[in-house]
Amino acid sequence: MRRTEIAKIAAAAILALGVTSAMATITGSKHDLSATGGGTIKADAGQNNDEICVYCHTPHAANTDFAGAPLWNKATPSSGSFTMYGATAANTAGQTIAGTSTDQQPNAPSLACLSCHDGVSAINSIVNAPGSGGYNASGQLVAFGATAAGTAKTMPAGVTQIGTDLTNDHPVSITYVEGAASLKPTTTAVTGWSGASTIADLLRNGKVECVSCHDPHLGESDTFLRRNAGTVGEASNKGSKVCLTCHDK
Ligand code: HEC
Ligand code: HEC
Ligand code: HEC
Ligand code: HEC
Repeated sequence: MRRTEIAKIAAAAILALGVTSAMATITGSKHDLSATGGGTIKADAGQNNDEICVYCHTPHAANTDFAGAPLWNKATPSSGSFTMYGATAANTAGQTIAGTSTDQQPNAPSLACLSCHDGVSAINSIVNAPGSGGYNASGQLVAFGATAAGTAKTMPAGVTQIGTDLTNDHPVSITYVEGAASLKPTTTAVTGWSGASTIADLLRNGKVECVSCHDPHLGESDTFLRRNAGTVGEASNKGSKVCLTCHDK
């Protein structure tokens, strides 16, 4: 092998390493709810709450209501309370312009996001708190900012409070029907997405859910968009590439 070739390979390897280390930076993001996290909604310091994953996952005694959101560490939001895209009442299927029906309620992967973003569920609820003896099936409420332990801290009003009314949000828990709403075939290759090489990989049980577009761990995108890993420094949705991945518009 010539020297220049070796140098090129080494440079490529360094670049690849750089890409890898830029991925999955939940630490210090708004989803890092430990006392040292990046947002304003987070745990108080000094009460054994310096863990990051624990606000969503637990290694043991997880709430298995959330199939698809693994080892989920939060209580289940009250059922039947969501109004789906295109629906006229809560707990009924919605109808899109293209004629596809949503499910009556969000499925578990989306419900996991809504277990903090619905404005009703407690963000500071943990089923299995850090350390010994921290288990409480209905969820413990730990101290969060001005909110004392035992008091629910819900998502404040504003754009991050998705709410229980999903009529003004991109449809979720909806089957991906090729051709409807100019949707591309599910076998279409996708670039720049984390954990996906085709559109099919973005779907959960063939449906669009919050995690189709977002990865809650990818904190280097300020809106946790899943299309980020490909091109370093490129904004995730530049040129609406997130949307144009599925819609042939
Ligand atoms: C804000 C909530 C949240 C936090 C905090 C969080 N996760 Fe997750 N995690 C999720 C959700 C939601 C899913 C399901 C994703 C999906 O269905 O694509 C998931 C899935 C996973 C998975 C399985 C999916 C995969 O392919 O990787 C692993 C492993 C994981 N998380 C590890 C972690 C670790 C380790 C931490 C702490 C460093 C962490 N998570 C922090 C929400 C969170
Ligand atoms: C454990 C609670 C929790 C869970 C679960 C959770 N989030 Fe969040 N998320 C937050 C908090 C807290 C913020 C910061 C909100 C703020 O400051 O207004 C946030 C912020 C965000 C933001 C960035 C908002 C911005 O404009 O900067 C996005 C996007 C987001 N979450 C999406 C999701 C998605 C998608 C899921 C599910 C895969 C999810 N979240 C699950 C607590 C959570
Ligand atoms: C079809 C793709 C898609 C789906 C599905 C989706 N989002 Fe988003 N979401 C986005 C994009 C793109 C942005 C960034 C919008 C921007 O930059 O203005 C965003 C932004 C957000 C924000 C930040 C506030 C804002 O509007 O800028 C939150 C919070 C959020 N999403 C949560 C969710 C939750 C929770 C779900 C599931 C109920 C969900 N998203 C489903 C694409 C999606
Ligand atoms: C993962 C694939 C996927 C991505 C990414 C995606 N969409 Fe969609 N979108 C869908 C599906 C599936 C539907 C439901 C289509 C139907 O009616 O059958 C839909 C529906 C819609 C609708 C409503 C159509 C109707 O019939 O009511 C609009 C508008 C839309 N998307 C715009 C967007 C925009 C804007 C973005 C980027 C922020 C985006 N989509 C990203 C899959 C996606």
